[in-house]
Amino acid sequence: MHAGGDARRQVKQTGFSARPLRHRINLPSFGWKQLLRQTQPFTLSPTVSNESRYIEKEAYLSRYTHARAIAQRESDERLKSEFTAEWLRSVKEDMPRFIPFLTGKCGMEFRGRILEIGAGAAWLGAELSKLPNVVEMVVTDYSPRLLKEQAPKVFRALQANTAKITRMPVDFHKLDFPTSYFDAVVCSSVLHQATNMVQLLREVKRVLKPGGKFVAIREPVWPLVKLKSRSKARAKLAEAGVVDPFYTLADYREFFLQAGFPMEAREVNLAKGFRYYVNRLVNGLTHARYAFVATKRTRG
Ligand SMILES: C[S@@+](CC[C@H](N)C(=O)[O-])C[C@H]1O[C@@H](n2cnc3c(N)ncnc32)[C@H](O)[C@@H]1O
Repeated sequence: MHAGGDARRQVKQTGFSARPLRHRINLPSFGWKQLLRQTQPFTLSPTVSNESRYIEKEAYLSRYTHARAIAQRESDERLKSEFTAEWLRSVKEDMPRFIPFLTGKCGMEFRGRILEIGAGAAWLGAELSKLPNVVEMVVTDYSPRLLKEQAPKVFRALQANTAKITRMPVDFHKLDFPTSYFDAVVCSSVLHQATNMVQLLREVKRVLKPGGKFVAIREPVWPLVKLKSRSKARAKLAEAGVVDPFYTLADYREFFLQAGFPMEAREVNLAKGFRYYVNRLVNGLTHARYAFVATKRTRG
């Protein structure tokens, strides 16, 4: 069933339609009135039991994305194999270590209004919502099902500040937000999935405020030495129908340059002690872990 139809039915059942739209939805404090005027009509799902808002617009897909891709992404089989107990453990224990890395070594200052693209179950948005200077956290993915079913579970597990969070199905090739709207845009393991990465990066740059930063973490980057174990892991994924492209660091730099959005690649090393030094030595060689950081120029 299409989520929009579901939402419309629920709106009807709950009698929301008796009141004007601006009273019907719990308008966040940022410029949503302006947004309502500029963009397509909303269909609102009142599934807000976990307190974070959920807003769904009609026809949010770009010409680069087919509804078929979403159906595949949302299949029971795929969700079952992805959202395992081990995945949840990693989201609770490993992923939060990215936050001090980003605010420390990467010099990211998270404040104001932040957008996450390709958020999936939105562990990154959940973590960022807890930072005191973050006022609004808009988490987006093209899958309504992930945002409705998986994200609330992650919010509970990570004790997110759900009052700051809005979940919204959005195609990252067509960011339906005003120009210069966000203080920062973030993503985790997302860029390589774009059909048109330059288009995605141009959109990110457009919605950022001048001086705003975009940070992309956990992108698969092709290392110098191809390990056998890695090739096997990819072959296994391919068997399951997951064939993600694997770009080199130079490819990523070129995509950013083509979008007029030069980036810096910072080495990621979240290990401690001896492993920290080993990782430093082999990064780029047998594995390649970087955070890409790009800043929107204040002029031009
Ligand atoms: C590898 S997953 C990463 C999910 C999450 N960021 C994380 O770190 O766990 C990539 C995500 O990108 C989303 N995605 C793929 N194509 C998209 C598109 N065109 N627009 C928006 N999201 C998309 C997928 O639904 C998926 O949740």
